[in-house]
Amino acid sequence: MSLFKKKTEERKLPRHIAIIMDGNGRWAKKRSMPRSAGHVAGAKTFKDIARYCNKIGLEYLTVYAFSTENWKRPKDEVDSIMNLLRDYLKDAENFKSDNIKVKFIGNLEPLADDIKELIKKDEDGSKNATGLKLNIAINYGGRDEITNAVKKIVASGISPDSITEQTISDNLYTSGMPDPDFIIRPSGEYRLSNYLIWQSAYAEYWFSDVLWPDFTPKHLEKAIEEYNHRHRRFGGV
Ligand code: FPP
Repeated sequence: MSLFKKKTEERKLPRHIAIIMDGNGRWAKKRSMPRSAGHVAGAKTFKDIARYCNKIGLEYLTVYAFSTENWKRPKDEVDSIMNLLRDYLKDAENFKSDNIKVKFIGNLEPLADDIKELIKKDEDGSKNATGLKLNIAINYGGRDEITNAVKKIVASGISPDSITEQTISDNLYTSGMPDPDFIIRPSGEYRLSNYLIWQSAYAEYWFSDVLWPDFTPKHLEKAIEEYNHRHRRFGGV
């Protein structure tokens, strides 16, 4: 039996993995390169990992590409991330042959018009794909997402007594998706950074010192192996 076959058959996959792609800047600094070079390397890792997740049959992958707080970074760094996003979107044809369904989550309104058009094209173009469902979080913040959900719920005129947890979930960007089971954060940081804060209430977490550009399918396999030893009780016994 091939190693790949063994891996897919003998272990339980989470339904939904979410990744905080952290450490690009430090990866670049270690090499005396500009931070933007770290993001270029990080974007390559992102594509490799998304393809790998698709190959092993993962249902959902959600990656944090740009947060509502990342606008505070120097303009040239923000521009470099937006340009990488443009490159990725122009190259999105590549993902089509992989049968990956792409969705962008976050407040997309402030993005440049050409990016918004490319996003629409990418989502429309992959809407019938039946493989991995890939969510890319851009201008995403968990508190912002919950605030928007509350605004939508209030505007709908629903009576307060009818509001349930499901009402909140249904008004988030991830409406209709299963909550992430497993959150991965590389780069030695141990925090959630406003990522999927409602959805990750019962998620399992995996942290590693590896910087995102150095993250490989081997690290992912190691993480999944550990996930297989976790006992999820969801508040029960
Ligand atoms: C965090 O590392 C990373 C980001 C804020 C940007 C993530 C972007 C990419 C991986 C590339 C673009 C993505 C797509 C979808 C094309 P950091 O810069 O905070 O690293 P540091 O903590 O070492 O400074």
